[in-house]
Amino acid sequence: VLSAADKTNVRGVFAKIGGQADEYGADALERMFATYPATKTYFPHFDLGKGSAQVKGHGKKVAGALAEAVNHIDDLAGALSKLSDLHAQKLRVDPVNFKLLGQCFLVAVATRNPGLLTPEVHASLDKFLCAVGTVLTAKYR
Ligand code: HEM
Repeated sequence: VLSAADKTNVRGVFAKIGGQADEYGADALERMFATYPATKTYFPHFDLGKGSAQVKGHGKKVAGALAEAVNHIDDLAGALSKLSDLHAQKLRVDPVNFKLLGQCFLVAVATRNPGLLTPEVHASLDKFLCAVGTVLTAKYR
């Protein structure tokens, strides 16, 4: 459960990354495909080469969904309901992959913002990303 302090920390991170969220989304995806190649199997219809416009476009969608989730941090299940249906019922993404993308997003934030992720902020962002993953995989049965 996200504490009041976690919510404040997460809002702070997204306020800081602000208009560049799209780039973070694309960076996180690029890192996920490079580091965990099995995740590429969900995107057979994508060009996954370096600088791919499709990866950039998808990064923008992922980042937009995360920003929307932050705006509704007290109702993640409601805010992500449609995406939860999509990932569970149509895309059937194995839940382990949400942890992988979450970790890659953390790294994308960390590398661009030296000093931002204090242990406390790191933990709050990790909890938030895990909570998003839990919602997106809640409808598997
Ligand atoms: C599509 C968000 C995790 C695979 C999408 C879309 C969004 C999204 C916003 C576009 C939905 C639409 O077009 O209506 C997220 C978020 C995630 C997450 C916020 C976790 C933080 C994952 C993971 C995988 C994955 C871990 C697989 C490794 C896909 C695929 C599509 C998709 C294959 C469809 C792509 C296409 O054909 O355009 N996701 N996603 N997602 N997602 Fe996720």
